[in-house]
Amino acid sequence: MGKRKSRRLALTARTADKYDLYQRAVQSPVEDIRFLARVYKTTRGRPAFHFREDFCGAGLLTATWIKRGPQYTAEGFDIDAKPLAWGRRHNFAPLGSAAARAVMHQRDVREPSDRRPDVRCAQNFSYCVFKTRGELMEYLGAVHRDLARDGVFVLDLYGGTESMEEVEESTRIEGGFTYIWDQHEYWPVTAETKCYIHFRFRDGSEMRRAFTYDWRLWTLAELKDALYDAGFPQVECYGEGTGSDGKSGNGVFRKTRRGENCDSFIAYLVGLK
Ligand SMILES: C[S@@+](CC[C@H](N)C(=O)[O-])C[C@H]1O[C@@H](n2cnc3c(N)ncnc32)[C@H](O)[C@@H]1O
Repeated sequence: MGKRKSRRLALTARTADKYDLYQRAVQSPVEDIRFLARVYKTTRGRPAFHFREDFCGAGLLTATWIKRGPQYTAEGFDIDAKPLAWGRRHNFAPLGSAAARAVMHQRDVREPSDRRPDVRCAQNFSYCVFKTRGELMEYLGAVHRDLARDGVFVLDLYGGTESMEEVEESTRIEGGFTYIWDQHEYWPVTAETKCYIHFRFRDGSEMRRAFTYDWRLWTLAELKDALYDAGFPQVECYGEGTGSDGKSGNGVFRKTRRGENCDSFIAYLVGLK
């Protein structure tokens, strides 16, 4: 008998599923949920139970939150039916009856929750679809009004001079594909940016522009001011520590008052109601 061949088909642009690739390349749900739960617990001295994920797409964070246990409930909001349907099949159906603890809404993020969340988040810079300060304030005001007493709102942000450059960054992902983050356009007067995600496979095929982002790149200080103006009496920033290579992030986020001047960084802003 010859050597057994792997029955797993190699990924190609034709066989791959873009939502699956996105989750594997971009998201770290366990680490993200651990961080969100920690922020609430350390600031409020008790655990958070009801969670809301804005711009949830396929709802991977929502699914990860409810897996914490029977007391944990969640809501996800996204306007696009497609990722919501994909998430129902791939992220929630495998959870069986526990999936009923999550309610996924096909609605605008400015709409209120069914139940006021203890923790609410906007991840992967998705609020950058709001390009004017008026739209951003409408969203943040709705977030503030909707939170439970003692609720916290967490958004992530992308900063540093490199965030304003027209560059591409390729990352090899385990499982046989490459993730390409393409900062295609940046306009300094409006801070508008057009970014794409492409995927490349071992057979040379590519899935070009699998995802497109038409954003305004808000800066950390602008977002901090906007959170105060939306009614949050306290706003805290969490910055990432440096890895052993002295350059890249180490995935550990700690509170910082002034930050660190890096070419490119991810940070969290936390608004405490
Ligand atoms: C970058 S994806 C985020 C996916 C996932 N939350 C993550 O962290 O990776 C942005 C999502 O925001 C949704 N979206 C854009 N504008 C929205 C709005 N006004 N209300 C609700 N969802 C919106 C899009 O449909 C899309 O699924």
